Amino acid sequence: MNTTAYSSEAGKREQVERMFNSIATKYDFLNHFLSAGTDILWRKKTVALLKKKAPKKILDMATGTADLAIEAAYTLHPEDITGIDISENMLLLAGEKIKKKNLGNIIRLKREDSEKTSFPGNNFDAVTVSFGVRNFENLEKGLREMHRVLKPGGTAVILEFSTPGKFPVKQLYHFYFRRILPLIGKIFSGNTQAYHYLPESVKAFPSGRDFIKIMDACGFEKTGFIPLSFGIASIYYGEK
Ligand SMILES: C[S@@+](CC[C@H](N)C(=O)[O-])C[C@H]1O[C@@H](n2cnc3c(N)ncnc32)[C@H](O)[C@@H]1O
Repeated sequence: MNTTAYSSEAGKREQVERMFNSIATKYDFLNHFLSAGTDILWRKKTVALLKKKAPKKILDMATGTADLAIEAAYTLHPEDITGIDISENMLLLAGEKIKKKNLGNIIRLKREDSEKTSFPGNNFDAVTVSFGVRNFENLEKGLREMHRVLKPGGTAVILEFSTPGKFPVKQLYHFYFRRILPLIGKIFSGNTQAYHYLPESVKAFPSGRDFIKIMDACGFEKTGFIPLSFGIASIYYGEK
């Protein structure tokens, strides 16, 4: 499935990389500001799903500035977390944060493409992605790669925006996403494209049961999803 909201010549991966390189220094602030801090709670819920399994070795794909990896380090006390991303600037900021929090002995960062990693198969107890899969050039490729690197019995958890179906949340959500968010995003990040891309990419992306069908087709078992904040975001999960 091609979940692109782009139309110009360069591939989606290059454009996404460039976009995140350009907004990296504003990314954390805008995330928390535009969601009124809700993104922090969503990441906490996502990580909490893994508590029972107590994974020792975790891969955080599209780690960005490493917020999910950091939350996982504090909550799950794993031996090792590897955070990968294609954006050098996001990884630089992630590295600074990890150093400040003294988590350098647990979280390692690598510049890698989630759709084609260098890791051997059956390698991780858990794979996590927050607000990353929507940016993949090829969603199925990324999901199959998650499945490949997971150990048998390992768990994948994915946090992503979804589209609420009910009145009035649906209408309010569309108004905020299409009108308010691109405007605030542009003012603070100086990047017109990035915060227009966000609502467009969410619109073009499978949500709820449609997403689960794709996870199933990519080999995951015991799949399910938990809508958050009236379906504005969802946590998808599955096992190998
Ligand atoms: C919206 S940010 C999410 C960052 C972080 N996970 C969070 O929760 O804030 C999306 C990240 O995905 C990265 N990304 C997009 N496509 C990728 C790919 N194919 N492989 C690795 N990282 C990718 C981008 O560079 C960006 O840092």
